[in-house]
Amino acid sequence: MRRYIIILMLLVFGRVSAQEAVDLLCEQRANPEGIDVVQPRLSWQLSGDQTAWQVIVASSEEKLAKGVGDLWNSGKVGNDESVLVGYAGVPLKSRMVCYWKVKVWTNAREGGWSKPAYWSMGLLQAADWKGKWIGYEQGFPWDSVSKFSRLSARYFRKNFDVRGIRQARLYVAGPGHYEVAINGKAIGDQVLAQAPTDYTKSVSYNTYDVTKECSDGKNVLDVVLGNGRFFTMRPKYKPKKIKEFGFPKLLLQLEITDDKGRRTIVSDTSWRFTADGPIRSNNEYDGEEYDARKELGGWMKPQMVAAPGGRLVAQMNPPIKVMTTIKPVGIKEGKPGVWILDMGQNMAGWVQMSVRGSRGEQVTLRYAETLQKNGELYTANLRDAKVTDIYTLKGEGQEVWHPVFVFHGFRYVEVSGYPGRPGFGDFEGQVVYDDLANVGEFHSSDTILNQLFRNAWWGINSNYKGMPVDCPQRNERMPWLGDRATGSLGESYLFNNGLLYAKWLEDIEESQKADGQLPDVAPAYWNYYSDNMTWPGVYILIADMLYNQYGDVRPIRRHYASMKKWLRYMSGKYEKDGIITKDKYGDWCVPPESPELIHSKDSSRNTDGQLIATAYYYHLLGLMGHFSELLHVSADAAEFAGEGEKVRTAFNKKFFVEDHYSNNTVTANLLPLYFGMVPDAKTEVVFKHITDKIESNGGQISTGVIGTQWLMRGLTRYGRADLAYRIASNTDYPSWGYMVEHGATTIWELWNGDSADPAMNSQNHIMLLGDLLTWMFQDLAGIAPAAPGFKKIRMKPVFPAGLDFAEASYQTPYGRVSSSWRRKGGAIIWDVVVPANVRAQVYLPDGKVREIGSGAYHFEANLKL
Ligand code: BGC
Repeated sequence: MRRYIIILMLLVFGRVSAQEAVDLLCEQRANPEGIDVVQPRLSWQLSGDQTAWQVIVASSEEKLAKGVGDLWNSGKVGNDESVLVGYAGVPLKSRMVCYWKVKVWTNAREGGWSKPAYWSMGLLQAADWKGKWIGYEQGFPWDSVSKFSRLSARYFRKNFDVRGIRQARLYVAGPGHYEVAINGKAIGDQVLAQAPTDYTKSVSYNTYDVTKECSDGKNVLDVVLGNGRFFTMRPKYKPKKIKEFGFPKLLLQLEITDDKGRRTIVSDTSWRFTADGPIRSNNEYDGEEYDARKELGGWMKPQMVAAPGGRLVAQMNPPIKVMTTIKPVGIKEGKPGVWILDMGQNMAGWVQMSVRGSRGEQVTLRYAETLQKNGELYTANLRDAKVTDIYTLKGEGQEVWHPVFVFHGFRYVEVSGYPGRPGFGDFEGQVVYDDLANVGEFHSSDTILNQLFRNAWWGINSNYKGMPVDCPQRNERMPWLGDRATGSLGESYLFNNGLLYAKWLEDIEESQKADGQLPDVAPAYWNYYSDNMTWPGVYILIADMLYNQYGDVRPIRRHYASMKKWLRYMSGKYEKDGIITKDKYGDWCVPPESPELIHSKDSSRNTDGQLIATAYYYHLLGLMGHFSELLHVSADAAEFAGEGEKVRTAFNKKFFVEDHYSNNTVTANLLPLYFGMVPDAKTEVVFKHITDKIESNGGQISTGVIGTQWLMRGLTRYGRADLAYRIASNTDYPSWGYMVEHGATTIWELWNGDSADPAMNSQNHIMLLGDLLTWMFQDLAGIAPAAPGFKKIRMKPVFPAGLDFAEASYQTPYGRVSSSWRRKGGAIIWDVVVPANVRAQVYLPDGKVREIGSGAYHFEANLKL
């Protein structure tokens, strides 16, 4: 008889005092301003298991305090919904401010009302915009509108008076980037605003409550526009490839309620304008030049300009901010007067510099990810990006500066022209990415896994820039779809990325052509419509991720028709007897046969593109079948299932040879296995080919971007978590651990990132993470959703030999779940915390399964042999 002990400690949460809901969110946004969803969804967290709830929404704080729900009073609703509960009150209109609170009942006990919260509605109709688009449709003598654009920032100013101000709200659209200030004070703490889109399809705007920033009497409103992705970094260079939008432009509306009633200050030609200000040039690839001697002057009038073309939409994804700062860990002088800062970490953002010197002195900052052997910057892998900031001093004491309209991807900074000797205190690395909360922690007894987790955290945040981009440093920084296929799921365990990815699905939909075609980069700043399954397929995979991780079905509903149209387009054009005949990227970036290569030319390492395309097609059909069931479109469900069967049969007929698939690469066998295409009787032998190959390889990885998306989970699902762990902790080439041991502080674009040709060799790309993070959370720690949004959790950790402990926690929409296990002799000690209002199925080490509710639990059980 095996020893079996369960010690159960249930900390009964909140059953003593009355419940109060906390963390009230509208549309899951931390910022309640400017929601443009007409039926927003409300969420709250609580510390007990909810049996009923009531929401009151009122048009004023006073009404809310009195319990008058003139916008909505849900009454007592007897269910346990607390995440994304749909507003069902009176129709909401532009500018409404909605005050709300919620009361919850737990185990039939009535709680108190929550603290009040609010959200404000944005401008819902085009006609709400009274402002005019203003700008200046040409360069100035100091600008250059050529391949390497040098375009100065555009400055706008408006004076206005107020008396007895009660309320002021500011609505701004300033593509590419804007900064806005009232009376010299910056509004908001966002940087690089606003969210990048295809501006001919949509233009996002931001809303700010600026009541406190306006003062009685005279006020001045300043806006500066930078280029961002609007005025492209490489104009007139490759017009067929690079999309251009023209010169930056502004649309603004400041709505003030004061003694005299409501009035609106709008962007128009009554504003003052100049481009002869301190920001002489700003270009995301090439850097920013700032001349602090330049006062704003030479005011002219702006021009009325054409609208960018896209509809105005409230930015629902969080803004970019300076999320954290780091100090340099080294400063060395190379050539005389040329200093190299080492930030100790590859990061994206900029360096803030403090400097004292004479008027007109110039400090030049250049950025790179690594150094050459001689200690100088290694910039070959940045291709033609100049990544150079130049600051000209005004010479009036201490000057503190950082660029505002560009960012860089770097670990090292070369500083030249710095007056005197720079010290550690003169520089600060400001890490810039989307304001997405950290939601997950992972720690284990394996130092390589721990370092990989940290590298992943840095790599992911480096590449969140209002859209997920491939890399933050070279002349690319494009939102490539395929890089995020399953990476987005792993990322969601580290960053609360739901709103960002929901926005990205909008970008993808906007990039769709009338016939259904989708690009490989969206927004389609680069015109790549190559037709393949694996890159655009991300559209469907991410909608599925948002549903599972966040419980949000809206993206599926919103995009279902476009997804279906794309699949039909692809099958219509490329399906021949159940096989998809077109692929573009193959198993992108497999480890090549020689160290300097980017792509392998060895056919035994690469996997047939048609196999990849057809397997993905099958998998995507399955997801679409599931979506159609969710949306109750049963005719579609049957059609997808039928099509899937046909594809599976054709696939096996074409690619199954003897007892394996195609040329027997890990990827060739893994995709059909993971996607459920392998005939049952053959599953074991196909899996054995995978494990044999890995073992004969010494536990090294042989997959590229595609195979790695399923590798860790695939090995674990079929019982070889030990082999998955071996791959994850391996430090020989090629492996993630090899990157770590060779100085990576993020994740490389290539397995051979330390030796490959610089033409495509970023040191901060995250696509090769594949499903590593998902595996750490779902398999090592055992934290996976068993119902959408983690309303039910499947806790099924694996305990690979050699790993002594693993612990992880994750902030679900309902609250924090955690799992922490360690070995004790032949037993496992396992501590679990399940959030309120959630149930979990725990798979105990001895093979037993229990269902538990919220609380903290301690288990001790022998490992099932
Ligand atoms: C990008 C990748 C991308 C790939 C596809 C590369 O240049 O950096 O991330 O997915 O191209 O072609």
